[in-house]
Amino acid sequence: MSELWIGTSWKMTKTLAEARAWTSGLVEALDGAAPDGVQPFVIPSFTATTTVRGILGEDSPVLLGVQNAHWEDAGAWTGEVSVPQAKDAGAELVEIGHSERREHFGETVETTRLKVAAALRHDLTPLLCIGEDAQVKEAGGSSAFILEQAAGALEGLSERELARVVIAYEPIWAIGEKGRPATTAELREPFAELGRVYGDRAAGLLYGGSVNLGNAEDLLGIEHVTGLFVGRTAWDLEGYLELLRIGARAAR
Ligand code: 13P
Repeated sequence: MSELWIGTSWKMTKTLAEARAWTSGLVEALDGAAPDGVQPFVIPSFTATTTVRGILGEDSPVLLGVQNAHWEDAGAWTGEVSVPQAKDAGAELVEIGHSERREHFGETVETTRLKVAAALRHDLTPLLCIGEDAQVKEAGGSSAFILEQAAGALEGLSERELARVVIAYEPIWAIGEKGRPATTAELREPFAELGRVYGDRAAGLLYGGSVNLGNAEDLLGIEHVTGLFVGRTAWDLEGYLELLRIGARAAR
């Protein structure tokens, strides 16, 4: 089996002091190496990218990402950050299409496609997020919806490019304070479908949405799941370290 990706986006949380404390604690706990079979990653706010990179160092076993990046390399795009800028600040991953960006900031299938291409063009790993809302789920359309979102964002990629893309399935109804944890039974079919289309072709198929210390092991046991993308539970370093331990056990 390939490595299990266990990572967190801090979303819009953490001051620089908090970012430093979390990252320094992680570096100390890892002592130079990720647990066997686990690929850790962390995605801070833009403002903390260079700070976190500085603490991780250059050859860190922890991949560093940004939560968004523009598809153009440079230009008059006030308030945006480009992939080359993110790379310059030390990022290796670019998160693309999180549902919060789709809902509040006009991210569309078309912009996710452009951003995936931009990340690949600059040798960064795209972390493409897909997921349906409660209405789509209730109508029984989850798998069709997420396959369409993924296909739209990944359209036109060669197999070699697709092999560098990590896909995170994050059902909107399961994310954040208003979400409810998904059951493994609910996730089996969407992952069977994602696995059928992308299992052997993409770099990973992660699950995200209300992952906690009580459900992480079961979620990693779902067929085709190759990692977890975590918000709240991992913002506290102790929570993240425990998730890494759970990942290491699952990878054995
Ligand atoms: P929570 O783990 O806080 O539900 O957030 C998940 C998420 O959106 C990760 O990108």
